[in-house]
Amino acid sequence: MALRNLRVDGDELLRRKSRPVADITENVKTLLGDMVDTMKNSKGAGLAAPQVGVLKRLIVIDHEDELFQMINPEIQLEEGSQDAEEACLSIPGMIGTVTRPEKLTVAFTKTDGTRAEMSAEGRLAVIISHEVDHLNGVLYRDKARNFRLRTKEDDEEDD
Ligand code: NI
Repeated sequence: MALRNLRVDGDELLRRKSRPVADITENVKTLLGDMVDTMKNSKGAGLAAPQVGVLKRLIVIDHEDELFQMINPEIQLEEGSQDAEEACLSIPGMIGTVTRPEKLTVAFTKTDGTRAEMSAEGRLAVIISHEVDHLNGVLYRDKARNFRLRTKEDDEEDD
């Protein structure tokens, strides 16, 4: 288990666009494993590679005891909308309301190199949308209403 240092808001790297992963090397697999460890250690629901300082299109998600590791995720289709509370491991102590698609379809490469497609709705759609935004240098606070300090009444997980 290896933890990586989290980049926080204000770090210019979080604003850059991540590059597609051409080959699933051992380095890439190690990075994904470290991202999972770092996410779980911080009790996050998702993490994108730029948050640990690597500009590669990689995201990990921990949702209802299911773990997703997505290489080169691409959102194909978005439907409907929902308003959800969001937080982010790179913006500690804050929370905000963001409008996201209610449902989406995402295509991605799995660690075994095969391409997969998945549909998601509700909270999982929010997390996927939030993490893919990170790969494009977008932070949830750019889109948030009522961006505010998190209080004890706010128990959302960090994405
Ligand atoms: Ni985030």
